[in-house]
Amino acid sequence: MAELMRTALILSNEGIATNIFRMTLQCPEIASQARPGQFVTLPPLDELTTWRRPFTVYGRDSERLTIVYRVVGRNTALYAQLTGGREISLIGPLGQPAVINPAVKEFWLVAGGCGLAPLRYILQRIEKTAPEAKVRVLAGFAAKNEVFGHDDIDASYGRGTFKVATDDGSYGFHGTVVDLLSQALRERDGENGDTLPKPEELAVYTCGPRRMMAAVAAIIVGRGSTCHALLEARMACGGLDACKGCVVKTTDGLKQVCQDGPVFDAAKIIWEE
Ligand SMILES: Cc1cc2nc3c(=O)[nH]c(=O)nc-3n(C[C@H](O)[C@H](O)[C@H](O)COP(=O)(O)OP(=O)(O)OC[C@H]3O[C@@H](n4cnc5c(N)ncnc54)[C@H](O)[C@@H]3O)c2cc1C
Ligand code: FES
Repeated sequence: MAELMRTALILSNEGIATNIFRMTLQCPEIASQARPGQFVTLPPLDELTTWRRPFTVYGRDSERLTIVYRVVGRNTALYAQLTGGREISLIGPLGQPAVINPAVKEFWLVAGGCGLAPLRYILQRIEKTAPEAKVRVLAGFAAKNEVFGHDDIDASYGRGTFKVATDDGSYGFHGTVVDLLSQALRERDGENGDTLPKPEELAVYTCGPRRMMAAVAAIIVGRGSTCHALLEARMACGGLDACKGCVVKTTDGLKQVCQDGPVFDAAKIIWEE
């Protein structure tokens, strides 16, 4: 279905960790159509910026849609100042939804920082599509003050599902999320660690910095499991298929993150660039 452009009402826009904000928008037509992995765009508020800014959907119901964003530059700094009651234009949903195989027995979601945002909505969909499947969420942050998502994820799956790694060891596991993933796989596989699993046994969704996703993909694809990576790209036209600036190299040729993604089979991404 084609994307829509609508005026959305900001219901709330609150800081949930250092430089991380959660914005909930009332916009029934876009909210009801958005699927996990898809994204929406907000207009530039900085007068020097031409193009809209993309954000993946963190959660939604039939009326409301939530995004979680990190303040990294001019527009995200201005979004952080918006207060409830204000209207803003919203375009979406854009991109292809994530595919969730209901036959998979175990799903792991591996996030770096704000990469947790799209994974949380994927998690909600797994809950409906594969209710019997085991789920783990592994998320890496620089430090404790950047950690978010605990409450939202625990609300779905209960305590113990969400494991955090921090680079400085100020919260949870001391190390990167890739280190945490390696440790968790060793614990999971035990003495069967050398046996390659069937593809339906474990599927991983990962989102975060490109180098982190490349490392996750190398581990997961290398052990014969499915790995889906949610890629980011500079989107000059805001995902409207006009600039062709969002291409990524894959074993099937060049693909556009905004049209073919943002979710890709990590085994097909050419990570070295
Ligand atoms: C499909 C998609 C989904 C996204 N979802 C989220 C999300 O859920 N939460 C979130 O916090 N961010 C998300 N992003 C990134 C977000 O769009 C950018 O952080 C935002 O556009 C920055 O706008 P700005 O004007 O504040 O920054 P600018 O002033 O334009 O840039 C500030 C810094 O951020 C870098 N930057 C800007 N845009 C990107 C980008 N797309 N990729 C990598 N680096 C960038 C610039 O190089 C610069 O160093 C997503 C991006 C894409 C393509
Ligand atoms: S962002 Fe312009 S074509 Fe993809």
